[in-house]
Amino acid sequence: MREYDFVVVGSGIAGLSFALKAAKHGSVAVITKRKGDDSNTAWAQGGIACVTSSEDSFDLHLRDTVEAGAGLCDEATVRTIVTEGPERIRELTEFGLLFDEREVAGQREPDLGREGGHSKRRVLHVQDVTGLEIEKTLLRELERCAQVELLENHMAVDLITAGKLGFAAEDRCLGVYVLDDRTSEVETIRTDRLVLATGGCGKVYLYTTNPDIATGDGVAMAWRAGATIANMEFIQFHPTCLFHAEAKSFLISEAVRGEGGILRNSRGENFMRRYHPQQSLAPRDIVARAIDAEIKRSGAKCVYLDITHKPPEFLRERFPHIFETCLRFGIDMTKQPIPVVPAAHYQCGGIKTDVNGATSLPGLYAIGEVGCTGLHGANRLASNSLLEGLVVAHRACEALVREQPPTHPARVIPLPEWQPGDVQDVDELVVIYHNWGEIRRLMWDYVGIVRTAKRLQRASARLRNLQREIREFYWNFRVTVDLLELRNLATVAALIVDSALSRKESRGLHFTLDHPEVEDRHFKRDTLLSRT
Ligand code: SIN
Repeated sequence: MREYDFVVVGSGIAGLSFALKAAKHGSVAVITKRKGDDSNTAWAQGGIACVTSSEDSFDLHLRDTVEAGAGLCDEATVRTIVTEGPERIRELTEFGLLFDEREVAGQREPDLGREGGHSKRRVLHVQDVTGLEIEKTLLRELERCAQVELLENHMAVDLITAGKLGFAAEDRCLGVYVLDDRTSEVETIRTDRLVLATGGCGKVYLYTTNPDIATGDGVAMAWRAGATIANMEFIQFHPTCLFHAEAKSFLISEAVRGEGGILRNSRGENFMRRYHPQQSLAPRDIVARAIDAEIKRSGAKCVYLDITHKPPEFLRERFPHIFETCLRFGIDMTKQPIPVVPAAHYQCGGIKTDVNGATSLPGLYAIGEVGCTGLHGANRLASNSLLEGLVVAHRACEALVREQPPTHPARVIPLPEWQPGDVQDVDELVVIYHNWGEIRRLMWDYVGIVRTAKRLQRASARLRNLQREIREFYWNFRVTVDLLELRNLATVAALIVDSALSRKESRGLHFTLDHPEVEDRHFKRDTLLSRT
């Protein structure tokens, strides 16, 4: 059994920046399913929203965030995250990250991007590859840090809790079982400070802008361990994912609309005029629903994002990654509109935490997309998530270092070894892939941008059956990454559906035809789910 002072699961902006800070206080393991840079962060294009301009203010950033959040943001949390942002950004730049700049009256200043719902330009970026540059910078720092062990190709299976070992009255997290994907062995890791930074769950939907690792592992593990889960009905659909048979999950950044891109339908009409005064730069939930309505009404397969009115050299320089990728698929964005569709993008709910990332289970923290601090409410403001990852990672480290070392009786007993299932029957793999596909399609068809109670109930019934089947595989066969991911996807899908069924109103990202209005009296509150 290994033991560390801190264990963090996930290697995006939140996990890596936490690990770098925690390394000053003890030994750290970073557990990550694939390579270190396989994270949602590495795919983030837009950038980090942060107040840096003299024309901007914390109050304005707070106001925009709260307005997007449709009544469910925790204002104290928003203020903390917004005001602590500049200091955390400064630390990133001290690691050598260079955000794009421009020259104004002989002075260099940040070249700030604009995105939907922001009243000011406030998005720091590195061209259109901000997340990748952040990821590279943090991993480079980590390599220099002897206190941190990066366990690649390791997947957390389940949390080990005192409750599961018979200490029900005094539950806490004691460690984690981890599958080494290279040896297929499950190891036991003990720690008093476990931090989940596993990102979101985009892969629960058929179409997503997320990478393959986004299978909701953290929420599913925390749920099984008895932690409180909040607001899972609020799944953000990004309006503009590239529509092309061979392009998998490729995001066309909102920054393209921020620089003047116009959404058009197949007749070339700027249809967003009919939906919102901010047109193509309206908040994401409104744009995604408008596109969905246009597609359903016209029977077209996609809409188009047109930025051909901008100079080609500007587009190539500002959006090199998008330009090159589109070109690879035969689309020259300087000359023709880009075909786009909405796709699942961000999980606004997650494991319920305070502003430091502390969950309802002692010893367990959750930071980044997997946690629900109250920053996003019912709809996240674009580019607030990298900021949240940085700020909450810092606060989590400070809070954990402040905590008294636990004196729990279960700390001195040996943790039980993992009990493997019997055998893995290759014939059964087809069932795993079938169930995986079925969950993703049913979530897309029944639990998407526009919902109804009937469709949600149908999804719920089908998911219960799938979960029963998956439980059988889980107990009868040796665990694999595919099986663990499938189990987590099914759990998270059921949490989304249960949360959506319980919210009998439409707010932010949750829109149901059965209750199309906001209903503050009963629903201006978080949706909380817990097994205990
Ligand atoms: C984008 O570049 O459009 C994504 C930004 C975000 O989701 O915050």
